[in-house]
Amino acid sequence: MIRVKVIFYSGLFLSFLCASGLMLYFGKETFHVSSEQRKAEEFAYHFVLIPEEVDNAYWRLVEKGARDAAKVHGVYVDYIGPKQANREEHVKTFHAAIAGRVDGIMVQGGEDPALLELLAKAKQKGIPAVTVDTDSPKSSRAAYIGTNNYYAGFLAGQALLKDTSGSQYVGIVTGRFQSANQKLRVDGFKAAVQQEKRIQIMGIEESNITKIGAVEAAYRLMKQHPGITALYGTSALDAAGIAGVATYLRRDDMYVIGFDTLPETLALIKAEAVRASVTQNPYEMGYKAVESLVKIKNGESVEPLQHTPTRVIRKNDLVKEPV
Ligand code: BGC
Repeated sequence: MIRVKVIFYSGLFLSFLCASGLMLYFGKETFHVSSEQRKAEEFAYHFVLIPEEVDNAYWRLVEKGARDAAKVHGVYVDYIGPKQANREEHVKTFHAAIAGRVDGIMVQGGEDPALLELLAKAKQKGIPAVTVDTDSPKSSRAAYIGTNNYYAGFLAGQALLKDTSGSQYVGIVTGRFQSANQKLRVDGFKAAVQQEKRIQIMGIEESNITKIGAVEAAYRLMKQHPGITALYGTSALDAAGIAGVATYLRRDDMYVIGFDTLPETLALIKAEAVRASVTQNPYEMGYKAVESLVKIKNGESVEPLQHTPTRVIRKNDLVKEPV
């Protein structure tokens, strides 16, 4: 019996060693910029940007902003994260960045306890971390750079009130139920419309931040609640998916409001398939996140809450001034 226990605990210990070793190795391999490379390219710092989903067009704009600021400040930026939105992958990447001892971390925030722990750990290791796009207000992050998501949701609710009359039966397509920014956009929206008896929220479905997911979510909502007159999409690709379904089901009367100003959404606003969208400034988020980390590294203080601009645009705004 004792022998079995010894074998069991030795096995456990060995696998623990292997796992920690792998994590360290992965962190170092992924994030290590050799001192020669550093000298050769004269990087002042090595930062990592961890998005919700690497190839998402919205996050590519955050990356562009970060890379442009990095050029100005002589910083090396790694852009690494989940291929498809996934909390575990996200946290793993964060863990590896800390293990790789980078000089600063920009990460999509949230309320996930594992993420909060890592924000605390980064601080403890002397690695400044800022949240972008989504905040973790209860964490030890150095700053948040991004939209005030509750307010942005509130703006969407106000737009619906302004643009419609009579009873409205609303379906919500949200990026991910888990994401703090998506929850805030739903809460803000509800707060704006809750006093109005003519507005009824019929249901909410998840798109998993993909266009095809938004198509499926909108389809489910419209099938379950055929009386729906308005659909609100809370992440960047949702409006395009919703508009596709509305067109397919010949519901040209559907009021569609979405988020962001990706090219497809703008084209749909021009074509009147999407009536309005809440703008964000992902490029500025990336740019300011790098600037903030540079300031922190240089011993300067930074504003902890840096809200980037947000407003509602409609077809008229596109004709007046291109966004
Ligand atoms: C949100 C991001 C999200 C993206 C997905 C944006 O509106 O701000 O958090 O990852 O949509 O497409």
